[in-house]
Amino acid sequence: MNEERNQHSELPIPNGWFAVAFSKELADGEVKRIRYFDEELVLFRTRSGQAKVLDAYCAHLGAHLAEGGRVIGETIRCPFHGWQYDGDGQCTRIPYCEDIPAKARVRCWDVVERDRMIFVWRHAEGKPPAWQVPILPELEDPDWTEPRTYELKVEVHMQDMAENNCDPIHFQFVHGMPDVPPSEISYADNGRFMRIISRSKQETPLGAFDTELERDSWGLGLTSVRTKGIPNAGLLMFSSTTPIDSGHSHSRWLFTVTKNLADVAGEEFIAGMSQGVLSDMRIWKNKIHRTHPVLCKGDSYLIEFRRWAKQFYSESA
Ligand code: FES
Ligand SMILES: [Fe+2]
Repeated sequence: MNEERNQHSELPIPNGWFAVAFSKELADGEVKRIRYFDEELVLFRTRSGQAKVLDAYCAHLGAHLAEGGRVIGETIRCPFHGWQYDGDGQCTRIPYCEDIPAKARVRCWDVVERDRMIFVWRHAEGKPPAWQVPILPELEDPDWTEPRTYELKVEVHMQDMAENNCDPIHFQFVHGMPDVPPSEISYADNGRFMRIISRSKQETPLGAFDTELERDSWGLGLTSVRTKGIPNAGLLMFSSTTPIDSGHSHSRWLFTVTKNLADVAGEEFIAGMSQGVLSDMRIWKNKIHRTHPVLCKGDSYLIEFRRWAKQFYSESA
């Protein structure tokens, strides 16, 4: 491997909330094998409907809980000798022994289900969640369309995908859009939350308006983009990008528009967004990560992004 390509692995896996599935992908009693954060995990939904994530390998002889394991009530049963683990990873039943050893447990992950997705908190040092997954009211609003979903896996570190949010110049070159620099960056929640607003005059199916593109980021994984300024109408894109490992990422997207825009702009919006991602893909798949890039005076937003991104890594990482 040459030295440049090696830079891929220099960036560790960040801390934060990351989606591991769309809610609709996991029925009650369903078990899924998932691999994120460079870890083998099992995702399952208990009979009462709770989504749970545990380390995949059984404390007994190490069978993979997702390879033949099944949900029994609120627990998952190992396929090998039938040990049962509850959603906290505690072994609650060994079918052939009354005495459950104190160490009979597997690591459990913090899970939150909202915004049509199942999120897991990941921290390199195992620290508890430091912030909350946002609630996006549009996703449950009867005036907005049922959200469409889209997903893709890319061979790139997720930070390089997130960096696009603070890269107005690439919109011009990669996406053939007019250069609209972010006009305002603000922070909240101890600096973990970042909002970038870009203003421009836009032709829309409902007329020409002064619109605002509002990009919100919660950590490196979660981003929403809202188009505001069209009277009584709006568009929303929400995405979660999850590290599979330090060189691979999995993005999930949700799109919704107000119902009055559905027929005139809904399809165009979704097609435009997903086409945009495909244009980014060629760059992402083939780029390296430069830890110390050569930057020019016009790159102030990129410098700001790199400064902000640092807080999502543990020192030990
Ligand atoms: S390996 Fe899981 S019960 Fe034996
Ligand atoms: Fe892009």
